[in-house]
Amino acid sequence: MKSIPEEFQIKELIEQKKYLVNGELKTWAGNVTEVFSSISSTEEYKPTLLGSIPDMGEPEAMAALDAALAAYGKGQGVWPTMHVKDRIECMENFVRKMETKREQIVKLLMWEIGKSLPDSQKEFDRTVEYIYDTIEEYKDLDRNSAKFQKHDGVYAHIKRGPLGVVLCLGPYNYPLNETFALLIPAIIMGNTTIFKPAKHGVLLITPLLEAFQSCFPKGVVNILFGRGRAVAAPIMQTGKVDVLALIGNSKSANALQEQHPKSNRLRLVLGLEAKNPAIILPDADLNLTIDECIAGTLSFNGQRCTALKVIYVHEQVKDEFMKRFTKRVDSLKFGNPWDNGVKLTPLPEPGKPAYIQELIDDAVQKGAQINNKKGGQHFDNYIWPAVLHPVTKDMRVYQEEQFGPIIPVLSFSDIEEPLNDMAESNYGQQVSLFGKDVYTLSPLIDTLVNLVCRVNLNSSCQRGPDVYPFTGRKDSAQATLSVHDALRSFSIRTFVAFKDNDLNNETIQQLLEAKLSNFVSTDYIL
Ligand code: G3H
Repeated sequence: MKSIPEEFQIKELIEQKKYLVNGELKTWAGNVTEVFSSISSTEEYKPTLLGSIPDMGEPEAMAALDAALAAYGKGQGVWPTMHVKDRIECMENFVRKMETKREQIVKLLMWEIGKSLPDSQKEFDRTVEYIYDTIEEYKDLDRNSAKFQKHDGVYAHIKRGPLGVVLCLGPYNYPLNETFALLIPAIIMGNTTIFKPAKHGVLLITPLLEAFQSCFPKGVVNILFGRGRAVAAPIMQTGKVDVLALIGNSKSANALQEQHPKSNRLRLVLGLEAKNPAIILPDADLNLTIDECIAGTLSFNGQRCTALKVIYVHEQVKDEFMKRFTKRVDSLKFGNPWDNGVKLTPLPEPGKPAYIQELIDDAVQKGAQINNKKGGQHFDNYIWPAVLHPVTKDMRVYQEEQFGPIIPVLSFSDIEEPLNDMAESNYGQQVSLFGKDVYTLSPLIDTLVNLVCRVNLNSSCQRGPDVYPFTGRKDSAQATLSVHDALRSFSIRTFVAFKDNDLNNETIQQLLEAKLSNFVSTDYIL
């Protein structure tokens, strides 16, 4: 093991004792859970202890819910009634404070989830950019609604209002970015929130607690630590949550939804699992296809909901593709996140290598072969990606979202084969289509857009740029996220209407002049 650069060494443990409820950074005195990194700091392999987090339960969950409900104040709270420009000012203060924590958060991203240094930096920067873009988008939304419409003798002043209390749960693979892509639009639209970090990538939230506490009115952001079952479930059971915002898997989303007794009250903003396929046509440019399939299958070791999780390659190019692709997989560099040029990094979940091995064993037993020399090689905290072919539908690796380093490949001679599989699949997020001939591509694109929500032409699947819609069909998502769409997903159109008569026109005129209502206002921010 090479020595760890000075700036990335863990010099002291983070014993996280604070949590944020009702505007107060409270001190936790109960049980704690130790936080380990799967990265070793010693020559002989041993997970590194990073610190500990509170193991909270129902009483703290209820206190957070009460705080969020009080801050919403049945719609009368300071935050939901606040003028847009003041809410924006709070968010600007927050993002400026957040920017000062880059180094600390990037370092924790590497240790807690094993994300490479450039990707950890990108996650931080992309999140900051997302917040600034959200502010601009909100100003735009506000500008466009600073007016009255009139139809059939009825005037309307239509804006977007908050929904209420949002319970926000993010995933471990993007513990900062994806969580904030839910939390930030939810907050800025005037909702009040309860947020619990993911199972890995928890300590990296702690440098931001003070910023959340000082930048928003009390109860607007409440931050809890602990297991979902202990903290999120009791909150849902009260029936007082208006929005469940979750990026994770459909099983946890379903389990939580089912706890909520009032299904029509509960809105869902969900980014769930996927099994995005790559379809490689006979005329695909193989150099580019292989580059994109490497990035698509193995960026962050395949731990992305948008990762390419199954490859369909046409029989005519299968041999050539497999020969070159497998070589490329074996030439990738494995190492710690700060190592130069590293592409494959330790897996944060201790049980993941064993799970991937189960998928390999099951596939091999049912007739697949490992096509690359290093495929399935074990390290202390890693398993080398195996390129499996031929994969059949009875194999677990075909059926399950692997969310890790393993690449199932199917070959086809009739394009209907992958199309039928996609139509039958429970998932419908994205697809990557590799080919050149427009006569083949046209009807395929027209079909694929109806099976998934993004067709990537000669490009790997991905969420970004964050201004584009991120959503999916079937078990892959509910609602749409993008800088633009998220503001809509976390709000509802609500308006003041009045019949065109002297009394109303005069009253509205006075309301506008008095500038006492934050809703009835044609002022806007440039
Ligand atoms: O885990 C799923 C993420 O939304 C993927 O985002 O495509 O930018 O890596 P990405």
